[in-house]
Amino acid sequence: MVQVTTFLLVLSLALVASGLSARKCVLTGQWTNDLGSNMTIGALNGKGEFSGSYHTAVTATTNKIQISPLQGSQHSTNQKSQPTFGFTVNWRFSDSVTVFTGQCFVDEDGREILKTMWLLRSRVNSIKDDWKATMVGINVFTRLHSRE
Ligand code: BTN
Repeated sequence: MVQVTTFLLVLSLALVASGLSARKCVLTGQWTNDLGSNMTIGALNGKGEFSGSYHTAVTATTNKIQISPLQGSQHSTNQKSQPTFGFTVNWRFSDSVTVFTGQCFVDEDGREILKTMWLLRSRVNSIKDDWKATMVGINVFTRLHSRE
């Protein structure tokens, strides 16, 4: 009896562990990042393309922040459980554009996490100022509402 119980316990632990690692990371939904910015990604089309909206918590300008559109795509090998992706935010309140690229991971606890890097290009008036027009950084996004 003890052996059967132990076997069932080990089996169920193995099933839970394999379920977590096999879980797919899905881009669609609402995300928040380490700066407090929020974004919503809509459904992917048949080519892996998506659109959405981005509400940044911070700005490099003195302008009033407005929710801005984003467009992106997930890599076509989307049968993979942890896909790569990229998207562009066309800021509605500044002359700037940010491109993000990253990968959608499922962490050890089964939670989805987007690890990204970004380039923020600000408009400058002169080519002489080009050297200071681009910022680079990283953002980590977690899902705002769990899918469970
Ligand atoms: C601007 O300031 O011109 C537009 C807003 C830029 C916000 C940047 S994009 C990269 C970083 N991650 C965020 O969530 N917000 C900042």
